[in-house]
Amino acid sequence: MRVGLTFDDVLLVPKYSDVKSRKDADIRTSFTRGIQLSVPIVSANMDTVTEAAMAVALARLGGIGVIHRFLSVEEQVSEVLKVKRSEGVVIEDPITLGPDRTVHEALGLIGDRDIGGIVVVDRSRKVLGLLTRRDITLEDDLSRKVSEVMTPRSELITARKGVSMEDAKKTLHSNRIEKLPLLDGRGNLAGLITSKDIMKRKQFPSATKDSKGRLRVAAAVGVKGDHMERSRRLLDAGADALVVDIAHGHSAYAIDTLKEIKRELGDVEVVAGNVATARGALDLIKAGADAVKVGVGSGSICVTRVVTGSGVPQLTAILDSVRGAADSGVPIVGDGGIRVPGDVTKALAAGASSVMIGSLFAGTEESPGPTILREGVRYKFTRGMASLAASVDRRVREKGTAGQRDDEVIGEVIEESVPEGVEGLIPYKGRVDEVVKQLVGGLRSGMSYSGAHSLAELRRNAEFMRITSAGYKESLPHDIRKVV
Ligand code: XMP
Repeated sequence: MRVGLTFDDVLLVPKYSDVKSRKDADIRTSFTRGIQLSVPIVSANMDTVTEAAMAVALARLGGIGVIHRFLSVEEQVSEVLKVKRSEGVVIEDPITLGPDRTVHEALGLIGDRDIGGIVVVDRSRKVLGLLTRRDITLEDDLSRKVSEVMTPRSELITARKGVSMEDAKKTLHSNRIEKLPLLDGRGNLAGLITSKDIMKRKQFPSATKDSKGRLRVAAAVGVKGDHMERSRRLLDAGADALVVDIAHGHSAYAIDTLKEIKRELGDVEVVAGNVATARGALDLIKAGADAVKVGVGSGSICVTRVVTGSGVPQLTAILDSVRGAADSGVPIVGDGGIRVPGDVTKALAAGASSVMIGSLFAGTEESPGPTILREGVRYKFTRGMASLAASVDRRVREKGTAGQRDDEVIGEVIEESVPEGVEGLIPYKGRVDEVVKQLVGGLRSGMSYSGAHSLAELRRNAEFMRITSAGYKESLPHDIRKVV
C-alpha cells in the first residue's frame, strides 16, 4: 500500500543558493497552455470566493480568477463582462444608453456595472453625448431624460478610431477630461478610452491581460444541462478560459464535456478537473485539456474524504498528476489545501504550475458577501459548493423552471442530499492583495532557500524530506507565549 502525503508531512531541504534578493526569483508561470501568469495564483470557482471583484483584483496582481457557475447564465456572463470592461487599452464595446432613457435608469446602470459614465447613442450607434457619474449623482429629478443632462455631442471631445495611445493620453490631459469616445468615419461609436484605465496600466505592470489589453478571466461550467449554451455565452462575453468543474473529473462526464467543448467551440482554453492521479491527468490531457486541476478532498470546506472514503493527500496528488502530465507540457493547477505560504512553495516545487485558493481568499474584502460581526470579531461566510446550503440555493434558483415552491424544494434537497462540503465563518482578512503579498513573499523566499531563480529551477532542485509529528511541532512557534 502506498503512503499519501500532504504539505505538512514534508519540508523542502535547503540548497546552496546564489539568489541575491527575493526579488530576483522569477515566478512567472502558465495557467493553461495558452495563458501566462506573472503570479502563480488562481482564485477558486466558489460562490463565496470568485465573482468580478475578486477576478479583477487577482488579474491586476498577475494571477487569475475563475468566476463560479452557481449563477444564471446571464449573471455569470455579467460578471465576466465586468472584468473584461474593468480596464483595457480601448474598451471596444462601451456601455451605452438611448437619449430618451431616464436618469434613474442611468444611475442603475452605472451602479450595476460599476462604471464612471455612459456614452449616449441613437439606434444606429451615432454618438449623441456622454453622461458621467458626476452629471447625475446629485440630480433630484430622476425622471429627467438622459439627453437633458448629458454633455451633448457639440461640446464633446472625441477621437478617431485607431488613435495612438500617446495621442489619446495627450487629448485626455490637455482637456482635463476622463473619457474619450472613439468614433468611426460616420460618427458612430467605435470604442472608449479612459484616463482611469491608462493610470491602472501603470499601477499594475504585471497584470494578466489579453491581446487587447483587457484583464483576463476564466469561468467555470458544469457537465450537464445548460453547459454548452453557458460556455458559448461566456466565450462571447470574452472569457479567456473555461473551467470544466466537476468533483470527480476522472469520469466519462468530464471527458465527454471536454471533448464536446473542444469540438464545438473551437479554439478555446479549457481547464479540466478535478483529478488526483497520474491516470486521471493523462486521460483529461488526451481528451484535450489545456490545464488539469488537481485536488480531491483537499479543500478546507470539503468532507469528500470523510463521506466517501475517497481522495489523495494533496502533495501526492500533485506529484502523481505532474508525472501523468509530464510529456505533454500541460500545466497542473494544485487546487485546495493551501493554508500557509509554505504550502504554495511546496505545491509548485512538486510540479504544479499554479495553485488555486478558496477559503484563504473567502475572508477578503473582494469575495462576494458582506462581513459579519460576531462578539467583536469580523468574519466572512464561506461554504463548500457541495454543502447542504449550496445545494439548497442551487435548487431554489433552478426551481423557477420546475414551478415548485421554495419549501418543497428545500425539503427535497434535505431528504436527498449527502453533503460533501461544510459551511462556516472565516476571519476577515482585509484586501486580497495583502494576502497575495504574503503568499508571494513566502514563495520567493522559499525559492531562495532552494537555490532557485525560476519555478522550473525550484522543481528541479526540490528535495522533499518527510518529517515526523515532532518535526512538524518544531516547525511551529513553540515554547513561548505567543503575542502576535
Ligand atoms: P481551499 O482549501 O483553498 O480549497 O478552501 C478550495 C477548493 O475546494 C474544493 N471544494 C470542495 N470540495 N466539497 C469538496 O469536496 C465541497 O463542497 C467543495 N467546495 C469547494 C474546490 O476544488 C475548491 O477550489
